[in-house]
Amino acid sequence: MIKRKKEERFSKKVFTNEQSSFISTPEYVAEHVVDTILGLGDFRSAVELCSCVGSTCIQLGRHLDKVVGIEIDEDRVVMARKNAILYGVDNVQFIRGDVLDIKLLKSINADIAFLDPGWSTRLMDRSSHVSDIDSTNPSLRKMFDLTKRHITENIIARIPATFNFGTLKELGKCRLENIIINNELVFKFAYFIGEYKRCEEEDVVFE
Ligand SMILES: C[S@@+](CC[C@H](N)C(=O)[O-])C[C@H]1O[C@@H](n2cnc3c(N)ncnc32)[C@H](O)[C@@H]1O
Repeated sequence: MIKRKKEERFSKKVFTNEQSSFISTPEYVAEHVVDTILGLGDFRSAVELCSCVGSTCIQLGRHLDKVVGIEIDEDRVVMARKNAILYGVDNVQFIRGDVLDIKLLKSINADIAFLDPGWSTRLMDRSSHVSDIDSTNPSLRKMFDLTKRHITENIIARIPATFNFGTLKELGKCRLENIIINNELVFKFAYFIGEYKRCEEEDVVFE
């Protein structure tokens, strides 16, 4: 088990709205995942597919040379750009685009890719989280295949608590981190990266 300190959801007054805030990775969890990535290899650039208002991209940008976030919702892209300025990072580019657009994906150079599709069939309702890789929005299977083919094989996915190794087996072997906040399993990270992808599962407890 890894123990981490739970902080405020965001350390600054970020540009967001109720729904974007609900689906965003809390800043202290994004810091944890970036710490983990830094320990796994000499990754200097990253892309995030489905970057929302920029929470994960901004933390990546604080440690890597170059980061690109792709997000389909124009308002979220605008907020993400403002958030990058708020956090003082100037090496993160937010592109309004579709993560299934092959031409766009082919134009991206990144050592590592972070995939974070939507998981719910009803807005802001955790009980509607999907439980297979084809039902996320967009499909995690499609995002994974396109990323592997056109960008990089070093992939991390943020997935709902409903996913397990069985659900993910068609994507390959991975390491799973259970993100537990206030004694509740809120979501997971699946790391498909080098030797780290041996099938192991670990709790990361924020308190
Ligand atoms: C779970 S949120 C991402 C949260 C963000 N990665 C973070 O760390 O805070 C999913 C996002 O995917 C976006 N999205 C959905 N379909 C998309 C598509 N085809 N291309 C790009 N973004 C998409 C949604 O607008 C939403 O902002």
